[in-house]
Amino acid sequence: MSLGELVGFGRSADVFAIDDRWVLRRYRDGGDATAEALVMRHVAEYGYPVPGVRSSEGNQGPEAQVVSHATRGELVLQRLSGPTLRKAMRQAAVSADQTGAMLADLLHRLHTIPARVSADPEHRVLHLDLHPDNVMLTPSGPMVIDWRNTEEGHPALDWAMTALILAQVAVGPTAEATHGRAVLVSLLQRHDPLIHLGGAHADCLAKARTRRAADPNMDALEVRVLDDAAALVRELETELRE
Ligand SMILES: Nc1ncnc2c1ncn2[C@@H]1O[C@H](COP(=O)(O)OP(=O)(O)O)[C@@H](O)[C@H]1O
Ligand SMILES: [Mg+2]
Repeated sequence: MSLGELVGFGRSADVFAIDDRWVLRRYRDGGDATAEALVMRHVAEYGYPVPGVRSSEGNQGPEAQVVSHATRGELVLQRLSGPTLRKAMRQAAVSADQTGAMLADLLHRLHTIPARVSADPEHRVLHLDLHPDNVMLTPSGPMVIDWRNTEEGHPALDWAMTALILAQVAVGPTAEATHGRAVLVSLLQRHDPLIHLGGAHADCLAKARTRRAADPNMDALEVRVLDDAAALVRELETELRE
């Protein structure tokens, strides 16, 4: 298969143009993308903003060849245009407060969708990596990409994950630290008051910490700041609840 330009890359995948409507997202470590494709289709059925996933079954025409070459580590996705939310924030096209509000809105909306598999009435589809690099600001609004970590479970775990990722930036040494903290405050101002990461859902924050520590894409410094990051989430949440 001949692929076009590299249109993006992250810590685990490369994304190549196929044509002006489709991209091929390929895991560098050959991970399996089958499960996330099912989840992306499920949430799309409920109107959630995700790129379309092109099916390999029953595909007709010249596109079929592209898909038949796809391996389990590859997905053919609707090509999106626009910057990531992180880039837009760096360029001051959106404020930290707007960024937190957007992430909170995307989490709230995701958690209104019924789980696909779980019969537990409290369970929802979780993204578990919903941060500003995994949101693209397209002309038709923010779209959520990178569903590699998706699972079903209690929404508090998703909030804990996003909060912890932002807090890692906030307590880290980079120039984005101040922004990271402001985005985190904005996010925590908007979570459901029934979610309490420093209290009733402390287990979710602890699980998020364990998951981040086990993430092979994390560098040593990012792992070292995890305790400070979790402490910051608890501290800011307490301030905001007072
Ligand atoms: N559907 C898409 N259309 C256009 N660009 C995309 C699309 N999906 C991802 N990208 C680009 O590729 C980058 C990496 O994608 P992502 O799925 O987040 O990979 P990773 O798992 O490595 O983080 C994104 O930041 C974005 O620039
Ligand atoms: Mg990503």
